[in-house]
Amino acid sequence: MKISRIKLTNFRSHVNFSEKFSPQTIIIGPNGVGKTNIIEAILLASTTRSHRTNHDRDLIAWESEFARNEIHLEENDQKSIIATFITNTPTFSKSYMLNNSPKKASEIVGFFQSVLFSPESLDLVYSSPSLRRRFLDIILCQSDRHYLRQLSQYNHVIRERNKLLFYLNRGNSHVDELQFWDDKVITLGSDIINKRANLCQSLDQSIKKAYPLVSGTKDKSEIIYKNNVNPEQFEKTILENRQREIKYTSTLFGPHRDDLLFFLNDHPLSTSGSRGECRSFILALKLAEIDYLTKIHNQPPVLLLDDVFSELDHDRRSRLADIIENQQTIITATDLDNIDKKTIKTATIIKLTPNP
Ligand SMILES: Nc1ncnc2c1ncn2[C@@H]1O[C@H](COP(=O)(O)OP(=O)(O)O)[C@@H](O)[C@H]1O
Ligand SMILES: [Mg+2]
Repeated sequence: MKISRIKLTNFRSHVNFSEKFSPQTIIIGPNGVGKTNIIEAILLASTTRSHRTNHDRDLIAWESEFARNEIHLEENDQKSIIATFITNTPTFSKSYMLNNSPKKASEIVGFFQSVLFSPESLDLVYSSPSLRRRFLDIILCQSDRHYLRQLSQYNHVIRERNKLLFYLNRGNSHVDELQFWDDKVITLGSDIINKRANLCQSLDQSIKKAYPLVSGTKDKSEIIYKNNVNPEQFEKTILENRQREIKYTSTLFGPHRDDLLFFLNDHPLSTSGSRGECRSFILALKLAEIDYLTKIHNQPPVLLLDDVFSELDHDRRSRLADIIENQQTIITATDLDNIDKKTIKTATIIKLTPNP
């Protein structure tokens, strides 16, 4: 599905932004002019989450009381997602519409799919496992109708179970009460582990083809889902660790503790890879993500390239240009100098200028 028009009202720095988008669109302007704010608006319509804040209040332009984010899709703007945020301190509310009828956030997620590649994507290599789990979860939310609900139920179960472990630790509850929550952790947790592991297998197959294309080398790349409990042994593991869990008042086993591991030539990427290798790996990972979403939905996702061209060398840039030809791509940059000539020729260029 392609974005045809975007209209932002009081969204971040955009008091009034309305532009048509083509299959290839380049947004140009100096730093701080609001390019990433537009990328954020697109991600928000695709995933209902911002990639920059967990507080939706931040999305409303300062000194404003509401923000509206309209993303129109397909030719003639046939389809649309509209998100509205209203603040009236201390209250805050948000609502979504899909093709002009009110919907819940869970009904919006994945209606159209997007993949983001930005300089911060490199954090996936170096930062904590939670960011890598989130990477997998966002792909699964965009491709599996039940996943978001399962994940929020699971998170709720972990919170409730941890509370109970705390009461047990204080001697204020009976250990039999855990059975109910154990069952839920095992059922929901196993499903989440299996879905993430299957996704990783598919990403692993794709990255093995994508990495050589991106890097121009024959290096072997690998992605492994590292679960801290085997779903087959879930119940046994929990029962064996009763006292430890009560002692630490924390659920120690399950997908909330899992990680995604990256290897290059059988060495861990984060400790052995050069900066350039990490960059190639993440770009290849993004291509694997595109591959997966395209297979599931029979159409490619919208690719968002936020400020990445200046960091790529000439060869990687032209390889990327070949790849993006086949799908809608929205590129941001401070100027056109670093963007492949072929891309510039076919693209619509939106110039943003600082407010006077
Ligand atoms: N809620 C907000 N209201 C008004 N301006 C905002 C808000 N949040 C961020 N900004 C402004 O948006 C600008 C950053 O925009 P950004 O999209 O990151 O720029 P860039 O073009 O460099 O990607 C900053 O100047 C910041 O002050
Ligand atoms: Mg930016």
